[in-house]
Amino acid sequence: MVHFPVTFSPITPLPAFNKNDLKRFLTAARTLALKAGGIQKRACGKKFKIDFKAGRSNDLVTEIDKKCETIIVKELSKMFPDHGILGEEGSQRNAGQGFQWIIDPIDGTTNFAHSHPYFAVSIGLAYLGTPIVGVIYAPLLNEIYTAAQGQGAFLNNKPIKVSTTKTLQFSLLSTGFTYKRRGINLPNFEHFLYNTQGIRRGGAASIDLCYVAAGRIDGYWELGLKPWDITAGVCILKEAGGRITSMAGQKLDLYGRNILATNGKIHKEMLSFFKEAPELPHELEEAKTL
Ligand code: IPD
Ligand code: CA
Ligand code: CA
Repeated sequence: MVHFPVTFSPITPLPAFNKNDLKRFLTAARTLALKAGGIQKRACGKKFKIDFKAGRSNDLVTEIDKKCETIIVKELSKMFPDHGILGEEGSQRNAGQGFQWIIDPIDGTTNFAHSHPYFAVSIGLAYLGTPIVGVIYAPLLNEIYTAAQGQGAFLNNKPIKVSTTKTLQFSLLSTGFTYKRRGINLPNFEHFLYNTQGIRRGGAASIDLCYVAAGRIDGYWELGLKPWDITAGVCILKEAGGRITSMAGQKLDLYGRNILATNGKIHKEMLSFFKEAPELPHELEEAKTL
């Protein structure tokens, strides 16, 4: 009896999602961001209930944050019952298939509560920890930023790209300060204040990332962030040609509690400051506990 060698043709795993799926995900995120943003637009400047998280007078949550998260999560759960969910105001459902919607119903709640227009709904979808869809809608600015993996980034449906600024000296940066320990970022702030054209502190991490994507800001960094602050924005900025790592230069971890996001060209220069900064190891450790 002749034995033929048994050969296996390698099985290429089917991709978990295709272009049409991405389109469906993006449409869903966009529809819900517009819906929640509409609620925020109508509520802004009117009376609403405000609570303070963990009793801190600078860490606000309004009834509008909760209402918007409830609506977004309810709709997403209906549309994608197998997907996981994580929302800032407490929504959590484990992912069955590696997909996780990560939602900040109002990023920039302090601004919202003061009728300052720099706030947004942020809806991101991650697949196995990588952001693949992002929608950020700033209703009072009339701006909606959208992106899906491999499809480019858009502001109000027009393509956007990062800036071409090559050096820190000619850069405009932005950053933020976590409610729990505002001072943690001050040494970095001081350094960049003296070595750039300026620093902005807008008060909404999601919009900060979009501004880098749109070329309005050249670089952004922050410590103490949560996944809902950055998931959508990371997708949008990547699609606009930006570079994103941890502040220590490692691959970004959405749960890593710090971010460095730039136009790519000034990334090295910013990293080389962080690498030398004596406080950085301590700051990175402390940020994990906030
Ligand atoms: C905050 C904003 C702010 C950043 C804080 C975040 P929230 O989110 O993004 O810019 O500096 O670290 O917590 O609480 O307004 O959703
Ligand atoms: Ca936030
Ligand atoms: Ca929020």
